[in-house]
Amino acid sequence: MKDLPKSFQRLFILITIMALVFWAWAIYQTDWSWINVFRLLLFGFLAAASESLPVSLPKGGYVTVSFAVFICVVILFPIGVSVSVAAIGGLFVFGKEVQGEPFYKRVFNASQFVVSLGAASLVLRITDTGFSIAPMAILIYLVASFAYMLTNMTVVAIALGILQGKSPWLIWIGNIRWSIPNFMSLAPLGLLMALVFHNDGEVGLFLLFIPLLLSRHSFQLYIDMRENYLNTVEALVQALEAKDTYTSGHSTRVGKLAVAIGEAMEMSEEKLVFLKYAAVLHDVGKIGVSETILNKEGKLLESEWESVRSHPVIGQTIIKGIKFLFDIGNVVRLHHERYDGKGYPDGVQGEEIPLESRIIAVADTYDAITSDRSYRKGSTHDEAMQEIKRVAGSQLDPKIAEIFRKVVTNELAQAIGADRVKVT
Ligand SMILES: [Fe+2]
Repeated sequence: MKDLPKSFQRLFILITIMALVFWAWAIYQTDWSWINVFRLLLFGFLAAASESLPVSLPKGGYVTVSFAVFICVVILFPIGVSVSVAAIGGLFVFGKEVQGEPFYKRVFNASQFVVSLGAASLVLRITDTGFSIAPMAILIYLVASFAYMLTNMTVVAIALGILQGKSPWLIWIGNIRWSIPNFMSLAPLGLLMALVFHNDGEVGLFLLFIPLLLSRHSFQLYIDMRENYLNTVEALVQALEAKDTYTSGHSTRVGKLAVAIGEAMEMSEEKLVFLKYAAVLHDVGKIGVSETILNKEGKLLESEWESVRSHPVIGQTIIKGIKFLFDIGNVVRLHHERYDGKGYPDGVQGEEIPLESRIIAVADTYDAITSDRSYRKGSTHDEAMQEIKRVAGSQLDPKIAEIFRKVVTNELAQAIGADRVKVT
């Protein structure tokens, strides 16, 4: 904890104190009958079990189904019981994901659950809503659930932002894409749990907990599928690099340069992932071009050029089959389009070319000029920058070329390895 940034320590203390004060107040407010103690133990167990089965998010952080349990308790039970359930859910976590994790993380999690639950209970308190199945009450429960989710996401994004040295706002935006489907499935489930427990007690609750685990399982499958998709992309690039000696390392470098440009343009985390994979895959269509042509020394015949020029379209055909989250195929198809409309395959121009394709074109041009070929040595960084300046506005998007110039002076050494380029 001591080696963590000061700003994180301050956030930790602030959230923990807020949680403790609220928890103490909630306990004081509650009439601790035996039935309430029993509810606390039962739902505390459910919350801890849910927290022990998390699903990791691609950009850091994770989600769990405990959200549904918290929504259920905040609707049904006195405030002291529901806040204590949230605290138990954060503190008593088991499973391989949390093994070896420092204790302060549990305290932080428990505290942010308590604070988020506080936001939800505030909505219920202001509107004076008890348990009911009237449409108005259900709407208020959804607003309360939303208040919980927003508070939770915001605290987590600030904490991750500080710890990873990134913008909390970008993390927030990146993760909301994952949290909304989670919210849409778990908030109604939380309401349903409350209804079932209210009508049928513990037996009904355990019957409902089975779909809750299924919902967690399907979300995990979704994340795993995405992971498999990205692994497939990497395998494709490796296949290409094994075939074309020039391409070796080219795709990865273009990927890094494109992401550096995207970061300078303040693209969201999600768009950066899209850009990275489109950039890494931009030349995948060369798999369909003869090796003799790709590795030929000297001038190509017109028919051979024709074949090389088909690679963006072949690339699109290869990857459109794995259209999972993004339309990478179109970006790959258009990476040899020129800003003035004289490129191929479609001859589109200016901003009709997708932004990602224009970014890849700049990164690709730079790497092609500075790379060694079998028949010539790569040019220097300065020569490449001069060439990019010369073709900005005709071949390349001038705005992106300018951003690239700024990025490259600052970040190139780290982006593609100091040995490739000497920045003067
Ligand atoms: Fe290409």
